[in-house]
Amino acid sequence: MPEIRRYESRDFVDYAATLEKTSTWERKAAAELKARLEKLTRREQVWVAEVGTRGVGFMILSPNNDGSLEVDWLDVHPDFQRTGIGTLLVEKAAKIAKAKKMKALSVHTWETNQKMLDFSAKNGFQVLERIKGFYGRGKDALRLKKEILP
Ligand SMILES: CC(C)(COP(=O)(O)OP(=O)(O)OC[C@H]1O[C@@H](n2cnc3c(N)ncnc32)[C@H](O)[C@@H]1OP(=O)(O)O)[C@@H](O)C(=O)NCCC(=O)NCCS
Repeated sequence: MPEIRRYESRDFVDYAATLEKTSTWERKAAAELKARLEKLTRREQVWVAEVGTRGVGFMILSPNNDGSLEVDWLDVHPDFQRTGIGTLLVEKAAKIAKAKKMKALSVHTWETNQKMLDFSAKNGFQVLERIKGFYGRGKDALRLKKEILP
């Protein structure tokens, strides 16, 4: 059973290795991650799903201005996908949002990311809106939301 815990600096290598596989950055993944972590605000949190001593799933929680909690940079290493780790991370995010009396979780993804869309639907998210050019010119995002019950 994976342990879900806060990110520590020793997790950087595993997070970057996961992003190398799950993103289009490939070898630039570590630099992209480093830049994102350097920009973290005090209100943001990074979480890790650990199996044994290996970080295999990750997310960055980032409060939005509309009172929702964004689940950002949600990535599970391909060797561990479809084993429930993404679900455990989102459940953790929902608990944190509830404790902070936030109203919803929010995720963004590109419309051809069928894995993420299926995953989100299975976890109770609904498509809220399309955001034009979110990922660059001509690359729209879908924003999905999951209400947090009081
Ligand atoms: C999306 C992602 C986070 C899901 O994490 P996960 O740990 O594999 O998800 P879980 O095991 O908790 O949930 C499994 C469900 O997710 C969906 N899913 C996961 N992998 C899938 C795949 N290869 N094809 C279709 N649906 C998939 C299905 O609904 C699946 O349920 P099922 O097995 O009963 O069909 C993971 O696939 C991932 O890291 N993808 C690459 C990175 C990414 O796109 N992140 C989101 C950026 S916005």
